[in-house]
Amino acid sequence: VTDPLRVHGDADIRDRALLDFAVNVRLTEPPAWLRERIARASLGRYPDDEGAVAAVARRHGRAPADVLLTAGAAEAFVLLARALRPAHAVCVHPSFTEPEAALRAAGHAVERAVLRRPFTLSAGDIPDTADLVVIGNPTNPTGILHAADLLAGLCRPGRVVVVDEAFMDFVPSASASESAPASLAGRGDLPGLVVVRSLTKMWGLAGLRVGYLLAPAALAARLRASQPLWPVSAPAIAAVEACMGAQAIAEAQASARDVAAERARFAQALSMLGLDVSAAATANFVLARAATGLRATLRRHGIAVRRGDTFPGLGDDWIRISVRDGASNALLLDVLAGLSDALRLPAAASVNAPV
Ligand SMILES: Cc1ncc(COP(=O)(O)O)c(C=O)c1O
Repeated sequence: VTDPLRVHGDADIRDRALLDFAVNVRLTEPPAWLRERIARASLGRYPDDEGAVAAVARRHGRAPADVLLTAGAAEAFVLLARALRPAHAVCVHPSFTEPEAALRAAGHAVERAVLRRPFTLSAGDIPDTADLVVIGNPTNPTGILHAADLLAGLCRPGRVVVVDEAFMDFVPSASASESAPASLAGRGDLPGLVVVRSLTKMWGLAGLRVGYLLAPAALAARLRASQPLWPVSAPAIAAVEACMGAQAIAEAQASARDVAAERARFAQALSMLGLDVSAAATANFVLARAATGLRATLRRHGIAVRRGDTFPGLGDDWIRISVRDGASNALLLDVLAGLSDALRLPAAASVNAPV
């Protein structure tokens, strides 16, 4: 039996060719200009990340010593779990489960702060004694974008606050040169703040394994000491450098705005069909309550959506649906429209049930 914390969207599409609304990576492969940059990386030499680290530092207004490249955000969670000795670790849920899985695998006890619908955080949800707090922003799968001030307020001496910003590239900012207003990536002043970023979601690079973290230099050095030698390959380093450029950031911003517009249309159409769509979406997916068997019904129609029941705090009447292009989304909507209410709609009794 698989640990529910170790179930991810890719499991929903592994065994069959299905139309994929389960994995929340924007592209099936990276854009051509990025593939070319990756292909040009030298495979004969050991990787050198100095230029890429400088590029990340420049993008976020940080010192290079605050930057650590990682083999995806996933590696960052393992490094944190192995390097830190938290006495009271708290993971905020529902959320991506790998941080908690990594902490447990490293032998740490983890307390869960489970947010109830509408899944917003209050400062009081985090116990004062917590010396390690992990939270996603925007959060997978709820789509909630927590205010930067609220998360900054969690930071204090003696506590590490890990903010997983794997989906932050989907949050449009006022101008191409600015970071998303909710991002804490530029906040080198906050004690114990670790911001984790990924290239996976925006750039269609799930298979390359590349991301980075930003932390006060001493903490970044501690995490670096837990890494193996040359943990990030030359092609992955080339991708980082390419994606930190002004043109890439402008492209990501344009894409974030397109995704937001398509998501609004899609979420409204799903609501019109009776799904109980969580209102807060800010990334390239929506979370919804629906009939308990809807995921299985959609599979029979060749469509995969992400199961909700493996996220602490959600049950099997929740599904996460990726926002695809208009034509693919229309296909899913057509299939849903053809289903009877009983196959599609959340149980009426639980709509107003106390949470
Ligand atoms: C919120 C969140 N953070 C991090 C990750 C891991 O990303 P990476 O591919 O960079 O390891 C995922 C992957 O699903 C995710 O959903």
